[in-house]
Amino acid sequence: MKQTILITGGAGYIGSHTCLEFLAAGHDIVVFDNLCNSSLESLRRVKELSGREFPFVAADIRDRAALDALFKTYAIDAVIHFAGLKAVGESVEKPLLYYDNNIAGSITLFEAMQAAGVKTVVFSSSATVYGDPASVPIREDFPVGATTNPYGRGKLIVEQILGDLAISDPEWRIALLRYFNPVGAHKSGRIGEDPRGIPNNLMPYIAQVAVGRREYLNVWGNDYPTPDGTGVRDYIHVVDLAQGHVKAVEKLAAGPGVRIWNLGTGCGYSVVEMAQAFEKASGHPVPYQFAPRRAGDIAQCWADPALAERELGWKARRGLDEMCEDTWRWQSLNPQGFEE
Ligand code: NAD
Ligand code: WQD
Repeated sequence: MKQTILITGGAGYIGSHTCLEFLAAGHDIVVFDNLCNSSLESLRRVKELSGREFPFVAADIRDRAALDALFKTYAIDAVIHFAGLKAVGESVEKPLLYYDNNIAGSITLFEAMQAAGVKTVVFSSSATVYGDPASVPIREDFPVGATTNPYGRGKLIVEQILGDLAISDPEWRIALLRYFNPVGAHKSGRIGEDPRGIPNNLMPYIAQVAVGRREYLNVWGNDYPTPDGTGVRDYIHVVDLAQGHVKAVEKLAAGPGVRIWNLGTGCGYSVVEMAQAFEKASGHPVPYQFAPRRAGDIAQCWADPALAERELGWKARRGLDEMCEDTWRWQSLNPQGFEE
């Protein structure tokens, strides 16, 4: 059934790829974003790639009046809530900004939804809510709560707020999607991850080394209890991740309640394996040097994605080589990101 989906944060990295997947699945979308970490160019390219027009509202999720006006103008069936700040280190320096933007902003959004009678939401949560897991792979029923920074705590608190909302009003249909490490870009090379300043995350940093924007990669720690001593993560292609959102919205149509799904591949790769895979995919060297561990990092983290496969009929299909090739295409075609 065709639905009209509000996508907050839809101009961002995961949001822009998700816009394309909802359009490809035949749904209508409305994008809401204050562009604090993205540009209009990403949406222009989503329109170009999809051949579809859609409304864009430039506003902040903390702006209740802007949200009320949107819900009056468009008959929204479901909300995909990506809007938020995501830099872990910055969240330690500016906790109030993160709590205000990510928690107060989410509350304002949910209030506006409730007032408009729109009670279906998919929330971008994170594997960070599991903290340092006692074992891997991580299942959805593993304990949550040992988060190490305001960003992660914000994700957990919004999950809990949504849980309480579902208790207070059993009409709510809520999906908490716990992403592992999103990487990669659309096949076209037209949209991708465009971090501002020095990238915090591994894949965009590696890509900037390969393209010659940075000299070498610092590998944060080579004394972890992992096969090669460097950190192991579950990297998931952003297009697989985006498709998981379409499946989640379709599943929520089946009934109310709170559902939690890990979105990961179930495979873990080390930092050194990532650098080597990127060299192979790009044909460019990725020199690296070992440096001390980064505060707050864990040794290893990967998903058990079986629940999503069973309940959503969703599975990540794109492997590591494709993640690196697609990142490289985006990076080499757009060495300065969306700034042409
Ligand atoms: P992104 O920064 O590219 O996208 C977030 C978008 O939200 C941006 O376009 C930004 O302008 C917008 N935004 C931020 N605050 C806003 C506000 N107050 N009002 C309106 N718009 C606002 O980040 P992303 O990687 O696409 O992440 C999307 C979501 O997924 C975030 O909630 C993030 O925390 C979550 N997530 C990301 C990762 C990751 O590693 N990329 C992992 C797990 C979860
Ligand atoms: C991956 C691995 C680093 C950069 C973060 C957030 C998490 C989630 C995803 C949103 C680690 C190593 C990295 C570098 C390195 N975000 N690394 N040199 O830390 O798994 O997760 O992003 O929800 O909440 O914490 O991802 O890409 O930063 O790091 O050696 O320059 O690469 O130590 O082992 P992480 P990452």
